[in-house]
Amino acid sequence: MNPGLKKWGTPILEGPGLCPHDVTAFVSKRRVRWLAFGLAVLMVLSCSGTPEPGRGSGSIIQEPKIVASIGGEAAEVFRSRCATCHGTTGRGDGLAAKSFPVKPRDLSDSNWQARVTDERIRRAIIGGGPAVGMSPLMTANPDLADKKSVMDDLVLIIRGLN
Ligand code: HEC
Repeated sequence: MNPGLKKWGTPILEGPGLCPHDVTAFVSKRRVRWLAFGLAVLMVLSCSGTPEPGRGSGSIIQEPKIVASIGGEAAEVFRSRCATCHGTTGRGDGLAAKSFPVKPRDLSDSNWQARVTDERIRRAIIGGGPAVGMSPLMTANPDLADKKSVMDDLVLIIRGLN
C-alpha cells in the first residue's frame, strides 16, 4: 500500500521535493511576479499623465518649489504635518482641516506675509495657536523648539510660499 495514502489526514505532501516548504516558496514566487507586474502597470499609468508645470494644474496639486529646494527635515515636517491642514501649497485647504470651524491660515497670502514677523511664525509653530492668541486647532510642535536649523528652514519655506 502507498504509505502516503494510508489514512485520511495523512500529509501527502511528504517526500523529497514536495514538502510544504517548497509549496510556499512556489506560491510566493508567483506572488512576487504578480506584484512586479502590478507595479510596472502602475508606473506606466502614473507616467502617462505628466502634469503641466504651474500651481494646481489638473487634479495633481504641485508642491511649491521652495519645499524641495530647502529639503531636509524641514521639508519633511512641512509635508507630513503642516500640509495636512494648510495644504500642499499652504493655502489652507489641507484635507485634515476640511471640517474645522476655523480655517487654517492661508500661508501664501501676501498681506498676511507682510504683517507677520518671523518671531510670531516661530512661536505659532512651537507653541501652537494659543501661543499667539489663536485657535488650539493650530497644533503645537514642541519637539522643534531645540532644532534651530529645522526651524530656520521651516520659516524660509513659509516665507517662500508667498
Ligand atoms: C491640525 C491642523 C494644523 C496643523 C497640523 C498645522 N496648522 Fe497651522 N494653523 C491651523 C489653523 C486652524 C490655524 C488658524 C488658527 C486661527 O485662525 O485661530 C493655523 C495657523 C497657523 C499660522 C498663523 C499664525 C498667525 O500668526 O497668523 C501659522 C504661521 C501656521 N499655522 C503654521 C503652521 C506650520 C508651519 C505647521 C507645521 C509645522 C502648521 N501650521 C501645522 C491648523 C494647523
